[in-house]
Amino acid sequence: MPVPVAVVLLAAGRGVRMRSARPKVLHEAAGKPLVDHVVAAARALLAGRPGSRLVVVAGAGREELIPHLARTAPDAVVVVQDPPRGTGDAVRAALAALGDATRVVVLAGDVPLLTAGTLARLEGALDAGSGTGIAVLTAHLADAGSYGRVVRDGEGRFARIVEAKDASPAERAIGEINSGLYAFDRAVLERQLPRLTDENAQGEFYLTDVLGLAVEEGIGVVAIPAGDASEVLGVNSRAELAEVDALLRRRAALAAMAAGATLVRPETITLDEGVTFGPDAVVEPFVTITGASSVGAGSRIGQGCVVASSTIGANVVVRPYCVIERAVVGDGAVVGPFARLREGTDLGPEVHVGNFVETKKARLAKGAKANHLTYLGDCSVGERTNVGAGVITCNYDGFGKHHTEIGAGVFVGSDVQLVAPVTVGDGAVVGAGATITKDVPAGALATSRVPQKTIEGGGARYRERKTAEKAARAAVK
Ligand code: UD1
Ligand code: CA
Repeated sequence: MPVPVAVVLLAAGRGVRMRSARPKVLHEAAGKPLVDHVVAAARALLAGRPGSRLVVVAGAGREELIPHLARTAPDAVVVVQDPPRGTGDAVRAALAALGDATRVVVLAGDVPLLTAGTLARLEGALDAGSGTGIAVLTAHLADAGSYGRVVRDGEGRFARIVEAKDASPAERAIGEINSGLYAFDRAVLERQLPRLTDENAQGEFYLTDVLGLAVEEGIGVVAIPAGDASEVLGVNSRAELAEVDALLRRRAALAAMAAGATLVRPETITLDEGVTFGPDAVVEPFVTITGASSVGAGSRIGQGCVVASSTIGANVVVRPYCVIERAVVGDGAVVGPFARLREGTDLGPEVHVGNFVETKKARLAKGAKANHLTYLGDCSVGERTNVGAGVITCNYDGFGKHHTEIGAGVFVGSDVQLVAPVTVGDGAVVGAGATITKDVPAGALATSRVPQKTIEGGGARYRERKTAEKAARAAVK
């Protein structure tokens, strides 16, 4: 039977160094709030372990954090720590919410690079027979900065953690730091927490002191160095947020390449965590792909494109400088350059949408084409229909939005305005320059033109008159 475990996620701190109105753990890295990254790692640890649970300690900024968790982690138990009096005090606030758990894993909401694998290794250190009551994840950093330092005894065994603010110069020189992530045997934790005092530089109850107190009582405490030191990076400032964001995006780029995508000059490409790629997808330089987006096998995203929360099918060509948001692009479609697909756009297979075309809530069926300078909003366009240059669906009358329905195999000439609500039936032809205000039946030809007037020799006479007028004006000056 797996041991039931409680993950306690600390997120009550003020995050003063962010200088922000927003709680620190809701700041985003790689497209997701910091806390979401940690929750994902916690979930992986808790999966398939009956009696386990996630407890989040909220405090400063909880008016924003609690509704966020209700949406993203509705199964989490939220406890409130107010005022925040240190990490030890925060864990104390969570004790009553641990349920049947016999192990407690403590995570900080501001350490988003932690992987599920490392977390499992940390928790596994407590396994039966190990004689270990506490495991702490550590790392060796070139610049240990404001992190707590790991003090070891003469034999190299873990002794205690000292906070940078309380450390002697010799202790500050130690390169091994405390990640702030731990696995505790619950009984050990419950015995040591009441013994904490706030007699330190910050006047706080430090969770880190639990480790030194346990060692003094002969409890086994092990320090486990993270395989990759970047996993333990915490976010305390905007500069650290930028650093962590870059590392997470680098990880996303490596995952894309591992899945078989070619990233051309990956250092210029910005990917949110969780964007997926099929094999042989190609992403050109300076592309940004965010949200729950996917790019299918063999598709190419051209230079400078921005793709957000969109599904790009297989063998799609998106030429450079397109903006695609909350849209679906079918297999074999060709888009751009310079196209803008807005929310609710749904392009079927082999659709062509060309330069300076804007679509919104537009459904284009298989093989439909709109290649130049067009606005298609609140409309559906049938299979193989050709929409000419400069066609506009007039979907807004100043008060409400209206739908335009264009059937299959229709030819819409250039510079046509379709004044919605209006329907053009299958196989119809709409002549260039028409303003369509009435439904066009299937197979019909619709035009709306002022008859053309041609005056023989009129062009020459016009030029003569204008030339004479100009000369007269010059003579007066
Ligand atoms: C803490 C550790 C330090 C470690 C570092 C790693 C302590 C005393 N120090 O320092 O050894 O190197 O993390 O990043 O634990 N929090 C609460 N309630 C509080 C205080 C903090 O919930 O009263 C939460 C914060 O929201 C944050 C986490 O605990 O998610 C860590 O707090 P923070 O103030 O950032 O601790 P550090 O000074 O970074
Ligand atoms: Ca911190």
